[in-house]
Order: sequence, then C-alpha cells, then structure tokens
Amino acid sequence: MKPVHRTHLRRSNNALRWGLDTEAQAAYQQDGVLIVEDFLDAQACAELRAQAERLVEVLAPQSPATVFSTRDQRHARDAYFESTAAGMGVFFEEEALDAQGQLKVPLSRAVNKLGHAMHDLDPVFQRHSHGPRWQAVAEGVGLADPLLVQSMYIFKQPGIGGEVNCHQDATFLSTQPQSVVGFWLAIEDAHQGNGCLGGLPGEHAKGLKELFRRDPDGVLRLHPIHPRPEWDMQRLQWLAVPRGSLIVFHGLFPHLSLANRLAQSRHAYTLHAVSAGTTYAKDNWIQRDGPQNAPFSGFIDLESATRG
Ligand code: FE2
Repeated sequence: MKPVHRTHLRRSNNALRWGLDTEAQAAYQQDGVLIVEDFLDAQACAELRAQAERLVEVLAPQSPATVFSTRDQRHARDAYFESTAAGMGVFFEEEALDAQGQLKVPLSRAVNKLGHAMHDLDPVFQRHSHGPRWQAVAEGVGLADPLLVQSMYIFKQPGIGGEVNCHQDATFLSTQPQSVVGFWLAIEDAHQGNGCLGGLPGEHAKGLKELFRRDPDGVLRLHPIHPRPEWDMQRLQWLAVPRGSLIVFHGLFPHLSLANRLAQSRHAYTLHAVSAGTTYAKDNWIQRDGPQNAPFSGFIDLESATRG
C-alpha cells in the first residue's frame, strides 16, 4: 500500500504565487488526502497554542459543565453546542468531569476542544487562518472559491484525550454538490502514541455514509444514507506528522483518531471550507443567515483578514 503523499508548498515559476505541484494534486485526487509539511512555522504554532489556552480561561466559566445543574445538563449542552456555530465555546473531555459535572482535573487538562468560529472572531486565530498559503492549498485540491465554515482547536489531552470514531466531515457540513475540505494542522508532533489522525486513502470515492441534519422538529440527528458504503479498514494508515504539518482531506475521506493515553498532549487546529459556487444546505447545523452574523469569509478575503 502506497503511503499518503507528502509535499511542500512551492513558489510558482514567477515566484509570486504559492502552489502545490502536479504530483501532489494528482495524489490528492487519488487518495482524498495529502500531507503538506512545514506549512506553519514554530512561532505561529506557539501563538495559536497560547491563544487557545487564553480562550479556555475566558470561555470555560460560561460553559454548561460549570454553569448548569446535572438535571439541565443535556438540554443545556445541546443549546450551548448550537450557540457556538457562529461563536466560540469550550467543550470538556468526558473523563474530565464527575457525575455532577464538576472538574476532576485542572482546567488546563480538562478541555476537549474550542469551537467553532475562532477564525472569524479571535484576532490571533483569524490572522493564522487566512492568507495566500491557505488559498494555494485550497486551490491545489480543487477548491478555488473557498468559504471558511468552522474552526476547531483540539487538545487531545494527555492521558484522557478521547477517541474519535471513523467518520466523514461531509456528514456534518453538506453542500450540493459535495465540496467540503478539511484542513488539519499539527500544533504539536502527532504520532500513533498520542492519537494522531488515521484514515482510509481512496475510500472517499465510495460516497457518503451518514448525514447530520436538523429534522423538522428542530433537533439535530444523524441519518444513514442508502446505499450505505462499506469501508475497507485494511486501508487504514496512521498519518504521523511533525509540528507545523497540514493534512488536507476531502469531505468524504473517512478518518479517525485513537485515545491519547500518553503523558504528552497532541494539539491540532482544524478548519473546514466549502465552495462558494455550491448550494449550502439549509439544514446544516452551522448557519450564518441571522442578522447578527457575518457571512462566511474566504482565505484571502482582505476585509475579513484585516479585521480586528
Ligand atoms: Fe473529522
């Protein structure tokens, strides 16, 4: 089995524009996944990490785990999750909370992730989520007119960072035709021991397995798609990458990560973009059609990139 292709962004002949070479572009089309090494430098990774830790301090006191009673927990959590579609919120690791929803570990070790609009609302995340290098990767994988839909900072905490089952990101962000692309940036070295990403190269071609959408009663649920594709788990590859690497993958690329049982964290920052030329589903959980919401930004949307 051929390992997932690894490449670097390169300047084009006239040295003005960044781009992916044709071999990398072809590998992405074939596998639905590509690794771009040295995408972000160590200082940028450190800035994102420090800002994520600051946001946890600011946002944690408003999260349901610390605000709501156990009885209200389920409803409050659903409402809180949805409130972060165009905002910012903290989500805790299950193993970090006791039955009463109280923290069992220090706050800095308790958070599963931040989501879902830091790329628009936080100046540090905004700066590192836009620019010509991002646009070059998007164009190289066939997304010439990207709109950024969501961002997540994932902590994969030492010892308790939970497992993520095999899934496709197009399940959670639907467009017609399908256009979502995932960008997974390693803020720390990621390897099998601390729960790096794993995936099934080529299996994206089998189509979508399930869809997370809002039912007429207003509740978000997962719905199976028929016929339901069967994934060949023999194709599983672990995508160990050094800090600063970007893993870019097709919305139908099946991927997962195991729990982190080491004493070392595995921070990652992810972005998801869709094509402006497609129809964005009205029952996707993330919507920006409210009067108080800014529209989705692009990677080189100058007005958005300089705001804040
Ligand atoms: Fe995912």
